[in-house]
Amino acid sequence: MINIVRWHLISGIKSHRFGDPGIFKTAKQRCSCVQEFSTSLKRNLVMPAWVIDKYGSNDVMRFNSNMVFPVINYPNEVIIKVHATSLNPIDVNMRNGYGSASLNMTRDPLNVKSSGSEFPLVLGRDVSGVVMECGLNVRYFKPGDQVWGAIPPWKQGALAEFVVTSGNEISMKPKSLSHTEAASLPYVTLTAWAALANSCGLNKEKCPGKRVLIIGASGGVGTAAIQLLKAWGAHVTAVCSEDAFTLIKSLGADDIVDYKAAQLSEQLKSQELFDVILDNVGGETEKLAFQFLKPWSGATYATLVTPFLYNNDRLGIADGMMRTGVTLSSKVVKHLCKGVHYRWVFFSPSGPYLDEIGELVKDGKIRPVIDEIFSFSDVPNAFSKVEKGHARGKTVIKVTESNK
Ligand SMILES: NC(=O)c1ccc[n+]([C@@H]2O[C@H](COP(=O)([O-])OP(=O)(O)OC[C@H]3O[C@@H](n4cnc5c(N)ncnc54)[C@H](OP(=O)(O)O)[C@@H]3O)[C@@H](O)[C@H]2O)c1
Repeated sequence: MINIVRWHLISGIKSHRFGDPGIFKTAKQRCSCVQEFSTSLKRNLVMPAWVIDKYGSNDVMRFNSNMVFPVINYPNEVIIKVHATSLNPIDVNMRNGYGSASLNMTRDPLNVKSSGSEFPLVLGRDVSGVVMECGLNVRYFKPGDQVWGAIPPWKQGALAEFVVTSGNEISMKPKSLSHTEAASLPYVTLTAWAALANSCGLNKEKCPGKRVLIIGASGGVGTAAIQLLKAWGAHVTAVCSEDAFTLIKSLGADDIVDYKAAQLSEQLKSQELFDVILDNVGGETEKLAFQFLKPWSGATYATLVTPFLYNNDRLGIADGMMRTGVTLSSKVVKHLCKGVHYRWVFFSPSGPYLDEIGELVKDGKIRPVIDEIFSFSDVPNAFSKVEKGHARGKTVIKVTESNK
């Protein structure tokens, strides 16, 4: 196995420097090279994984005990033995085909592969597990390290025994967390980080005295965002259903509003205005939110619900990007004229940010919020659960039984 890895790496370095994303132009070429150089043990040629072979409802999920074992293609990659993963709404959406136009373009920018070449596709963005192999440029990790991370959606996911990803996208797992706990955090905490730190400019220096409203506070991103903001010292008002009040209070929210009790806009009128609104719901909430921001004071509305990928799916990449550009710029300008910033937020994988989030976990400032744990054999039921909505934190999948 090591020989395959090294050979790929040397080739990878050379081709990458010259702007070619990889020396292997087709999957067929890659396979023939692997065979020539392989010293792999038989057991490492295939692995169990949940895959989809086409987009659709939950019955497209298929357990494949003979999924191709992942291979290191770039010198900064690592192979991780997956102990646990967790599901996010994007997994259900990707299973339905959402984002496929943009994700396929990222996977294959020159469009040399045939349509459907992304299949069999493995979902599952979060990973907590143990490093098995490292590329030659990986400095921070070695085989045996316990790591956590969030894998970008254009890569094969972690609903598998092994996954390959960049060393830049992972971090050392906080020792205080089991793999099951750790797998619940990366994707949602990094999304909360992208929203609050990168889009709204918040951090521990800037948070004290700031009033933040979180709409959709009881799900994965909401529960992560409350904790991050409280760790940084902000005042947090959380919007959720009444049955989530106890959970949300336990995470440190200062005020809680039940969006089902009465019109949200009526209820928010009694609140002081906000410096930041994080909208995890979108649609109607986007229309009502702006009146509750402090105008002309740098206040920001940030939403996770954007039409970016949907536009590309529906209109194709060129027209979709054009539509997205027009929509975003007109909203930014319209709200700027009223004295507030408007932002779209996108998850971004980052090992360094996860290092910082890990410190907050170590200090007891961020804890996992797990709604339900499923076994690896029960993945389709986990998808059904996430699809029904009403999450209270995260849905986690235990991939291996030894999960310390
Ligand atoms: N742009 C990105 O990169 C990015 C990244 C991550 C997530 N997202 C998107 O962001 C959204 C939230 O993600 P998530 O992982 O937190 O989802 P989630 O775990 O499914 O949580 C959504 C939460 O919102 C609550 N909710 C639904 N309607 C509400 C309303 N009108 N007011 C207040 N709360 C409401 C739900 O509970 P109840 O229905 O029981 O109230 C649930 O707790 C999803 O649409 C997801 O696709 C985008």
